[in-house]
Amino acid sequence: MELDGAVVIVTGASSGIGAATARLAAARGAKVVLAARRAGRIKDLADDLPGAVAVPTDLRDPAQIVRLVDATLDRFGRVDVLVNNAGQGLHVPLEQVRLDDLRAITELNVYAPLLAMQAVIPPMRRQGGGVIVNVSSMTSRMVLPGVGGYSATKSALNMLSQVARRELAPDGIVVSIVYPSVTATEFHQALAAGTRVGGDSWAVRAHSAESVAEAIVGVIQSGEEEIMLTSGWDQGAADRRDKGQPQ
Ligand SMILES: NC(=O)c1ccc[n+]([C@@H]2O[C@H](COP(=O)([O-])OP(=O)(O)OC[C@H]3O[C@@H](n4cnc5c(N)ncnc54)[C@H](OP(=O)(O)O)[C@@H]3O)[C@@H](O)[C@H]2O)c1
Repeated sequence: MELDGAVVIVTGASSGIGAATARLAAARGAKVVLAARRAGRIKDLADDLPGAVAVPTDLRDPAQIVRLVDATLDRFGRVDVLVNNAGQGLHVPLEQVRLDDLRAITELNVYAPLLAMQAVIPPMRRQGGGVIVNVSSMTSRMVLPGVGGYSATKSALNMLSQVARRELAPDGIVVSIVYPSVTATEFHQALAAGTRVGGDSWAVRAHSAESVAEAIVGVIQSGEEEIMLTSGWDQGAADRRDKGQPQ
């Protein structure tokens, strides 16, 4: 899919990977629809990006997801790309996972992307195709103690995405997954519970939001099934460095 002139919904566009993706897609000529709860942030970003529009949205509310897609269709008459990027972490051992926290991140990390896919499928089908990119996490491709609740939500998203790719192929709708690893964003301060993995040395090895945005825009253009952003992140080495131990 070429981005020039395409209508692209980006969820979680108020910071980090979503904001960087919106900027890059707009720079490639896309008309970007920015969704997140912090209205001031997405309105400011929309002011910076030609043709962009901000639609304040709480993605944990199914009705607001429908409203987001309706607002996109009202404004542009079509939707070419959906980037399901919004997400939140939950970084505590399983013994400490509170069901309310797991329920909240499941609503955001699993139900919201599913509902958003369901909302864009009919217009994409009518148009003869479209692209959906779901932002997962490399934690769902490992067995990483301390992030089991979060990884479980992203594992569920992976399966929904893989099945959707096959179900929607006859309609010309391409579904892809991008798996970021540690990325320097507000994610690590916005966890539903717990603390970031990797101690103080995380930032040294973290990807930039812009580099993940390059991968997302790349996959929109290529239609590849998945891209894994392995960073060479070495948890043991990071822990040793934080403790002042030899690497
Ligand atoms: N950073 C990492 O190390 C990392 C690693 C692997 C995967 N990821 C994944 O990458 C994606 C983007 O994360 P990020 O690193 O860019 O984190 P971030 O900077 O914390 O951004 C998260 C975005 O999600 C939005 N969001 C949270 N709750 C929402 C809700 N209820 N309704 C609407 N929007 C909501 C936030 O906007 P508002 O608060 O304004 O609503 C924000 O724009 C997530 O899916 C995350 O799981 C991140």
